[in-house]
Amino acid sequence: MEPKIVAVYGSPRRQGNTATLLKKAVQGANDAGAQVEEIVLRDLRMSPCLEIYGCNKAGECRLKDDFQKARDQILACRGLMLASPVFFYTVSAHTKILMDRFQSLWVKKYWVEKTGQNQKNALRKGLFIAAGATRGKKLFDGMLLSLRYFFDVIDMELWKTLLYRGLDFEGDVLKFPEYLDEAYQAGKEFAKELSHEFEF
Ligand SMILES: Cc1cc2nc3c(=O)[nH]c(=O)nc-3n(C[C@H](O)[C@H](O)[C@H](O)COP(=O)(O)O)c2cc1C
Repeated sequence: MEPKIVAVYGSPRRQGNTATLLKKAVQGANDAGAQVEEIVLRDLRMSPCLEIYGCNKAGECRLKDDFQKARDQILACRGLMLASPVFFYTVSAHTKILMDRFQSLWVKKYWVEKTGQNQKNALRKGLFIAAGATRGKKLFDGMLLSLRYFFDVIDMELWKTLLYRGLDFEGDVLKFPEYLDEAYQAGKEFAKELSHEFEF
């Protein structure tokens, strides 16, 4: 069975470093026979969470916009490939808006159905790609904390991270064919890994 993978582009740049890397991973996954759906966050109309807790009753976000479709796609996948630049030591605003809107799912699990505490199911796996301009040791620490918490909410295990320092201008990543190759191979491996899980 072909594993279904969702690829989420979290940068405002369409041809930026993380988008280029994610496209390579998508190509790798496609070449391994996976079915990949792509979501470009900057093309979506998605409000930030307004913290009105309209989700209190049924765990359903009251703001109706493009979140619902993205959420359904993500919850229907077996693998998520998410790419974001480092912005102020965390994910981009586009990515953070998506994460925050999943608070409705957190509410569903922990307040409405109260299943969150005892259910620690890794139903899905995630590949995370990030790029930042600087080179500090802690460059990715902030975003990885946010990511882990987000993945927990969507029952996702962090399968692999591809984290690249020293990439600033659009196209910088093209100077590093080894990064592009690594992303391609990761996409391919990811698809293979997911397909093995479905062999009965
Ligand atoms: C709003 C903003 C905030 C940024 N914050 C950081 C930062 O905290 N640390 C860093 O190393 N680079 C930072 N950068 C640089 C980007 O991470 C870098 O240019 C990255 O390669 C962009 O990836 P993209 O082309 O996929 O958007 C920032 C850039 C912008 C526009």
